[in-house]
Amino acid sequence: INRMLLDVDTGIDDALAILYALLSPAIKVEGITTGFGNTDVDQATENTLRVIQAANCGYEVPVAKGAAGPLKRTFPGAVPHIHGHNGIGDAVLPPSRVQALEESAAAFIVRKVNESPGELILVTVGRLTNLALALELDPSIASKFKKVVIMGGTVYAPGNITPVSEANLYGDPEAAAQVFESMVPITIVGLDVTQQTRLTKQHLSDLSRDVAPNKREVFDFMNAALQIYFDFYAFSNDFDGECPMHDPLAVIVAINPSLVRTETIPAAIDCGDGYTAGMIITDRRVRAVVGRPVAFCLEVDQEKAIAELLSIFTKGER
Ligand code: BDR
Ligand code: CA
Repeated sequence: INRMLLDVDTGIDDALAILYALLSPAIKVEGITTGFGNTDVDQATENTLRVIQAANCGYEVPVAKGAAGPLKRTFPGAVPHIHGHNGIGDAVLPPSRVQALEESAAAFIVRKVNESPGELILVTVGRLTNLALALELDPSIASKFKKVVIMGGTVYAPGNITPVSEANLYGDPEAAAQVFESMVPITIVGLDVTQQTRLTKQHLSDLSRDVAPNKREVFDFMNAALQIYFDFYAFSNDFDGECPMHDPLAVIVAINPSLVRTETIPAAIDCGDGYTAGMIITDRRVRAVVGRPVAFCLEVDQEKAIAELLSIFTKGER
């Protein structure tokens, strides 16, 4: 079983990533940390608690609230045109019966990794602020992750917030730079693969017929939450009835690495102020001198990835 920590800014696709992690029989989620991004950290925390409750996965999942803003910059605020006013596409879930821990996200990550060195996979699908703060608290954790899979950035595909930058890395470039400069074993699941891995309205209507009885409620929630996400991608990318599965793909790849082709390339993060803020600079020169080796996912078997994602709704195991 894959023991996992998740760092999220829940978020429509974050919600799906959390559901996949909780409902996949191959994963045990040992905790979820929250941050700002798609929405503010309080809303992201509440959304995360509610999604966990709705998943009803049969075990308890602690949630630790994290950073409210970037290390050195100002959080520009939520993006209701992408993720709705409540961050989860204005879909409604019952309030959570439990609360987040008192412990901060960074302290939680440090504690969990020190309790199980070499055992935990961390998947981050939001800004890298919490991980950077955890590394500041205890730099020794850098070598104690089994691996760290990061949804963020792009190598060849265009950016989604500037022509060259992706939202999670742009949202806190200094944090991303700190993580890239550390010894953390990074796999980047960036726009090169996530933009290709699209859920379609057709998938959802087909799936609707096969949903396991104990997954119907959570499926209906996700279906409702996704509508605004489809609208945003129709408008922003000209995707007709399709939306990319950024965050779920990171979790899927973390436990199914054969679904992607990866290439290891030296890389660093740009911390400038313009279009290149948070851009991944890959040094593809023969005699590379910039950055350190990072594994980048560059191609994906998107059909298998989507089938894997949807399988959590048809199997009633958890
Ligand atoms: C990332 O930005 C957020 O909107 C999504 O949740 C995902 O983590 C994609 O660039
Ligand atoms: Ca996210």
